[in-house]
Amino acid sequence: MIRPILIHPDPRLKKVCDPVAAITADLAVLARDMLDTMYDAPGIGLAAPQIGVTKRLIVMDCIKTGEGEPRPIALFNPEIIWASETLSTYDEGCLSIPDQYAEVQRPAEVRVRWLGLDGALHEEQFGGLWATCVQHEIDHLNGKLFIDYLGPLKRQMITRKMEKLKRERARLG
Ligand code: NI
Repeated sequence: MIRPILIHPDPRLKKVCDPVAAITADLAVLARDMLDTMYDAPGIGLAAPQIGVTKRLIVMDCIKTGEGEPRPIALFNPEIIWASETLSTYDEGCLSIPDQYAEVQRPAEVRVRWLGLDGALHEEQFGGLWATCVQHEIDHLNGKLFIDYLGPLKRQMITRKMEKLKRERARLG
């Protein structure tokens, strides 16, 4: 089921999310819904707070259309356990901040540990777009957005555009 995506600014996007204790049937449905919502948007990553659920869950699939088999993954309680000193810069965007992009510098490679839908702990090293995406999504679980890496003027400019967008959408009902 596709769920509505919250648009910044929203207090629910600023919350530190709660870890999940174990994988339940409800959480499996939530992960499925988040993947449906992400593919529909379309996007390469989505965090639970973006649909108003303050739980530590993110979903990703950074395989571009036509570049291989889709690889949807759901990561519960994801933790970065190692980050490279080498940095890389990507022009980032966010489904909660539509049509706004800015360069953000982050570690080029990260090792992440998470609880999978199978109830087992997983560990994997991510590079390239996957590394940027997983760090961006984990930030969401800590109430952090990519615009928080920008200077105050740029951030305020984007926030004002989003406030305007939300007013327009509200007016259109
Ligand atoms: Ni985002």
